[in-house]
Amino acid sequence: PAILLLWAAIGYLAGSVPFGIVFAWVFRLGDLRQIGSGNIGATNVLRTGNRLAALLTLVMDSGKGAFVTLAALGAAGWDAAQVAALFSFLGHCFPVWLRFRGGKGVATFLGILIALSPATGAAACATWLVAAGLTRYSSAGALAAAVLAPIWAITMARGDLLMLLVALAFLVLWRHQGNITRLMAGTEPRIGRK
Ligand code: G3P
Repeated sequence: PAILLLWAAIGYLAGSVPFGIVFAWVFRLGDLRQIGSGNIGATNVLRTGNRLAALLTLVMDSGKGAFVTLAALGAAGWDAAQVAALFSFLGHCFPVWLRFRGGKGVATFLGILIALSPATGAAACATWLVAAGLTRYSSAGALAAAVLAPIWAITMARGDLLMLLVALAFLVLWRHQGNITRLMAGTEPRIGRK
């Protein structure tokens, strides 16, 4: 119905704000597309050497997903929240402002999850921290967090999130094709290196 279309549009617009690009501009860090992986996310902002800008990118790219999901939940209920969540993720990955060449959705995914189920979101963040901490690969953290999120949801008795989380896991995997190729080739840069 119309209300779901409306929240899809609001979710997409919120998600499409590329905070990495915004903070790279604010802090005069250069063109993210020409740095490191060329991605617009917090991991690549960190490769500029500016930790504050990377942290702000992480918080805001997560926050936009969480904020619009909670707004939809409060205003229009559970179905609208899931639609807003999915479309904020899609907005981040395919923003019209960047000719649909956006990010990989990891921070937005985590923000959405924290909003929909804090316990599942905390488990997914912990998964990211453990996998990235052990391997020093941000992408390995992301892949582990996305793949395990549906399992965490079931563990937390949140099977109602399963369809959304499986869809998001596939999208995160799909957006990380280049990272997966580099991980297998042993050429993926580790966190803290340019
Ligand atoms: O959040 C994206 C991360 O998983 C990988 O980023 O820049 O290393 O491709 P990047």
